[in-house]
Amino acid sequence: MNRHEARLTTDVERAARVLRAGGLIGLPTETVYGLGADARNADALAEIFSAKRRPVDHPLIVHIRHRDQIAQWSREVPSAAWRLAEAFWPGPLTLVLPRLPGVPDQVTGGLDTVALRIPAHPLALAVLEKFGDGVAAPSANRHGRVSPTTAQHVLAELGDAVDVVLDGGPCQVGIESTIVDFPEAGPRILRPGRITADDLQRATGLAPVARLAPEVRRPGAMTSHYAPRAKVVLTTPTELAGVVEAWRRRGARAGVLSAQPPTRLPADVTWLSLGSASEEQARRLYARLREADALALDVLVVVTPPDEGLGIALRDRLLRAAGLGDGRVFEGGTD
Ligand code: TXA
Ligand code: MG
Repeated sequence: MNRHEARLTTDVERAARVLRAGGLIGLPTETVYGLGADARNADALAEIFSAKRRPVDHPLIVHIRHRDQIAQWSREVPSAAWRLAEAFWPGPLTLVLPRLPGVPDQVTGGLDTVALRIPAHPLALAVLEKFGDGVAAPSANRHGRVSPTTAQHVLAELGDAVDVVLDGGPCQVGIESTIVDFPEAGPRILRPGRITADDLQRATGLAPVARLAPEVRRPGAMTSHYAPRAKVVLTTPTELAGVVEAWRRRGARAGVLSAQPPTRLPADVTWLSLGSASEEQARRLYARLREADALALDVLVVVTPPDEGLGIALRDRLLRAAGLGDGRVFEGGTD
């Protein structure tokens, strides 16, 4: 029994009251849990940054309930963005649009744009409906750490900072939303996710520009994202056994995260199953990284998923967990 468990609730009215009073809520979404506050309340927004220990110039996503609320945050919506909102909202897609002047600087990080999304989780939609305005919510983890995919993860990491956590069960997507901006007429992917480049192209008729730059726009700030305490090392199926053996020889307590059960795994090395379908892999990934820490592993050797479809987003998160940013370095050779 966690000492914060009284803060777990499914009472949407209670959560809306907390938002109105300038407090913080754990917000379940289909991607990951958010740390939510009234997106127009500067003091409440400041609490998000101090709870997460997040640099104040990192912008936040504003969660809304209805597409017609876009006009309360953005002065101009490119037609490709409208098509995406119609195709994928509610859903795991964030649109970066030109901001209106009144949007708080804590939300935009001083940029001229604002990030908006309608999440697809019934409890999130219900609290947004009750609250009636935008809720700013970054992922509910300490800055640079693994995003939470259950209400219990939020309590374990930020239990002292949140007033309530809406318990919506385990997240169905499991990794953060695809973030898209519109530098020209067409979409550009700032962060890959469940909505893929093909999905964007089908909905807009325009080929998206992939941006392999870091999710956080400031150089130097990206390498420690999504990191567990265990060192994450990426490899290929053929190199796996050799990489594990090399770490064991160095005296490291090692684990393996992969889709297929490894053959010839030494008895003192734990296998964590990533699952087979890529949707299942996304759903499990962050819980598995947390498990590596619970097992006190020194190193987690990960067989990276193929570079296609949802695998692109999985690889992006794994590269960051490995501290490689958008580099392409693999142990035991290139992939
Ligand atoms: O799935 C998600 O997007 C989750 C759930 C809670 O909605 N939220 C999430 O928030 O992942 P966070 O703060 O961990 O990541 C949001 C990312 C940040 O990297 C931030 O830099 C980027 O969105 N972002 C926010 N506003 C932006 C803007 N105006 N321009 C470019 N990037 C922006
Ligand atoms: Mg985050």
